[in-house]
Amino acid sequence: MASSVLIAPSILSADFAKLGEEVCAIDAAGADYVHVDVMDGHFVPNITIGPGVVKALRPYTVKTFDVHLMIAPVDPYVGAFAEAGADIITVHAEAGPHLHRTLQLVKGLGKKAGVSLNPGTPAEAVREVLGFVDLILVMSVNPGFGGQSFIESQLEKIRTLRGWIDTLDRTVHLEVDGGINAETASAVISAGADVLVAGTAAFTGGPDRYAENIRQLRGY
Ligand code: DX5
Ligand code: ZN
Repeated sequence: MASSVLIAPSILSADFAKLGEEVCAIDAAGADYVHVDVMDGHFVPNITIGPGVVKALRPYTVKTFDVHLMIAPVDPYVGAFAEAGADIITVHAEAGPHLHRTLQLVKGLGKKAGVSLNPGTPAEAVREVLGFVDLILVMSVNPGFGGQSFIESQLEKIRTLRGWIDTLDRTVHLEVDGGINAETASAVISAGADVLVAGTAAFTGGPDRYAENIRQLRGY
């Protein structure tokens, strides 16, 4: 099990009409990362945020911008998100066609590189890049929308990846995204996750609730 857990609220569940204020509020409430879900209407059936929004939000926090790119092709847009102020850039193993090249591109821009797996993709899809990435993101829902139910079968994938990561002599975060609430948080932490993305559970109830929401996800 990982020693300390980081909470990465997804601004997908924030009030889009007040995104700057929402980022400030979730930062003040104790978020470790600000998770930004980028969707293109092609790789996933929804369209959300582009690099212009990331750039506009950058002055609102010094916390890590954890940018999850659910887009294909992805390579042509990595530079724009890096320039906009992303700290971690996570791409999907399924976005193709050359995962290793995409990760080299991210690292070459001086950013932390993450790789994400959809629920239907086995852990083996990241094995060859394990020594090269800073973060692995296990999707515990099919990407595209907030508010979906956690897919239990992903716990075994998390355990497998935790086993592999623990054989490395460097830090690789293991992040889980989708359907995370106080109950599923505890299950994924036990399985070995050390970064939890939460949209609905973090932003529910408005700014006055954010600190308590985050506290419940941490489990203490
Ligand atoms: C889904 C996104 C998630 C999502 C999580 O495609 O990547 O980050 O916003 O939302 P909840 O926590 O509501 O499942
Ligand atoms: Zn995400």
